[in-house]
Amino acid sequence: MAIYVNEEKGLFQIDTKNASYQMKVSKSGYLLHTYYGRKIKEDVSGELSYYDRGFSGNPPEVGTDRRFSLDALPQEYSCYGQGDYRNVAFLVKDKDGVFGCHLKYDSYEVDADLDFALLPHIHNFEGREDIESLKIRLKDKSLNLYVDLYYHVLPYLDVIARSVVVTNAGEDQVFIEKIASGQLDFLAGDFDLLHFHGRHCKERQTERIALTYAGQSIGSLRGTSSHQENPFLILADRECNEEQGDCYGLHLLYSGNFHMQADKDQYAQTRLLAGIHEEMFSYRLDSGETFISPQLAITFSKDGLTGLSHNCHSLIRYHICRGKFQTQRRPVLLNNWEATYFDFDGEKIKKIAKQASELGVEMLVLDDGWFGKRDSDNSGLGDWWVNEEKIGSSLKELGEGITAYGMKFGLWIEPEMVSEDSDLYRNHPDFAFCLPGKEPVRSRNQLVLDFSRKEVVDYIYQALAKVISTAPISYLKMDMNRSICDVYSRVCRHQNHGEIMYKYVLGVYDFLDRISKDFPDLFVEGCSGGGGRFDAGMLYYTPQIWCSDNTDAVDRLFIQNGTSYGYPISSVGSHVSIVPNHQTGRLTDLKTRAIVAMAGSFGYELDLSLLSDEEKEAVKDQIIDYKKYWNLIQNGHYYRCKLVGSAMDASVWMFVSEDKSEGLLNVVTLDTNANGPAIYVRARGLDENKVYQVEGFDKQYSGASLMHMGLLLPLMQGEYQALQIYFKEVRD
Ligand code: DGJ
Repeated sequence: MAIYVNEEKGLFQIDTKNASYQMKVSKSGYLLHTYYGRKIKEDVSGELSYYDRGFSGNPPEVGTDRRFSLDALPQEYSCYGQGDYRNVAFLVKDKDGVFGCHLKYDSYEVDADLDFALLPHIHNFEGREDIESLKIRLKDKSLNLYVDLYYHVLPYLDVIARSVVVTNAGEDQVFIEKIASGQLDFLAGDFDLLHFHGRHCKERQTERIALTYAGQSIGSLRGTSSHQENPFLILADRECNEEQGDCYGLHLLYSGNFHMQADKDQYAQTRLLAGIHEEMFSYRLDSGETFISPQLAITFSKDGLTGLSHNCHSLIRYHICRGKFQTQRRPVLLNNWEATYFDFDGEKIKKIAKQASELGVEMLVLDDGWFGKRDSDNSGLGDWWVNEEKIGSSLKELGEGITAYGMKFGLWIEPEMVSEDSDLYRNHPDFAFCLPGKEPVRSRNQLVLDFSRKEVVDYIYQALAKVISTAPISYLKMDMNRSICDVYSRVCRHQNHGEIMYKYVLGVYDFLDRISKDFPDLFVEGCSGGGGRFDAGMLYYTPQIWCSDNTDAVDRLFIQNGTSYGYPISSVGSHVSIVPNHQTGRLTDLKTRAIVAMAGSFGYELDLSLLSDEEKEAVKDQIIDYKKYWNLIQNGHYYRCKLVGSAMDASVWMFVSEDKSEGLLNVVTLDTNANGPAIYVRARGLDENKVYQVEGFDKQYSGASLMHMGLLLPLMQGEYQALQIYFKEVRD
């Protein structure tokens, strides 16, 4: 059992494999957070400090005891109105607009069920440890408001997933103005934050910053989790590095506006909050109604950032992604986007597919432009009827033409959008977000459909389901190509517009839920101009996401490296494209491009008939290699590695099978040296005592020698050279 309750003492402890999490109800009835970190056994609440602090108020229950202040004590779930002046987790407003509540401990329940409805949440995976759960109820007496804190625990991954459920048992409406899904209060310690910022075509760049008294926050108000920040954050001890030290990873299972805030308070204590962004959020809760926050999965590692990443990878691969594609090999695909953009017809697509199939590609994905009047990105979105004139046949015939080459057929969609130049917009302008009396803001010349409205989701779903069921489609790429503004819904309940963005996200999940139920064999890849909605919430519905619109191999090294901190390789869509690269103009070798694309679900995004015969042979070999290594790549352990010393700048990563019998080392150089020092790379994750045959080196090495002495690499000259080296255990 991971959950331990001592009713008499008011003590709650959650023990995972390497960590303990402790809470204690104070004599005055407040739920304090006493500890989260490496394993401990005893009640440590006696170690909290109680000092008379000036300008820090004392709740009524403690009478004249000036030493008990919620402004200074670590809390499990703070709220405004109790004398805590830090950033708080919960803010509620009553019917008269009065802010604040008093949340006191009420009761608890072990093995508590929670119906998450459409909200992504962690689940069991056959053959792995099961989830245990705990609910702690807090209550505001005068409002008759329940705030239930849920803990879903996966002990073997050191995961505690938090959700907050608010029920209005009072007679009057209340408004939730802020609701973090979880809070972590730390008494002492110097922390760094690792966050993953970026922009379109440059997502998830890693930045490590010291947490200061100024506080730091990341978030998105774009309606999606965004290219600019990611709802995954690491709080690390300042000494923590790749291989050792304590750190905490937070994954918000949500794909909309979010906020993660870290603060160091006046007493050098740290508070971390994560949840829906409170800006432009206001949820009206009528009498008897309930609100469920997105789930926040928190994991702990005492083995540095690599240990944390491994927890996150298994969490997402086994307990967030679902369906038969969770751990299955994904077909090697060719997407026509960078090969043709909008300039194609059925014959051109078939020609590209035929050539690809001859080289071993297993699926052709028809990207944007097959529907409505869509020869550019200025029109057609929303008109989900097949443009038979353009593709020269029905979609069924085109699909059958492609499957006749022994390939699968995939299709691009962008359900949440509408072009003003479309029949949908002409007939239903009210379906699109637009502020009353104002002109809408355009982005990529398109508007956003109001997915907070069920009838809009119904309309789009029916149109697309019809298309999907008429052709032999095995795969969908679901795109979303702008940020959201103009948030006004013509039919908003109570005209309360602070709810729309939450309901919009539920609408997107509803769409995906219907797809997964009606078309269980369809593999759905998420996309938002690449990685603009790359989050654990989407991965619950789409086990893979197009990682970035930037296919440049060198830029991808940084994007994929940043992504690897929180997300498994199985979630990353990655393709080889043409050079000069369309986004950067950079030239890289085909081999380099393939090795980089193999750090993900592998595919191509170019017309392969444009390659030389020699390159075509190389493509054949790449596909053979990928099929040979896919399980190691997709389901193995991922390690970020380094060259020894700093003789040369390079990106180095490795895959190691769970039983450590195989490894695949990848190196891409980022500069080049004249008469430079020898280059060694130290492997990671192998078994010191095993002996490995190293392919291409014609030699055997112990795991110890590969990891400690390092492997001497052949001389690599010229920028962006790549190596892929396979290790296999030698068994007698
Ligand atoms: C953005 C995507 O990320 C691209 O791969 C492509 O599908 C385009 N949209 C199509 O409009």
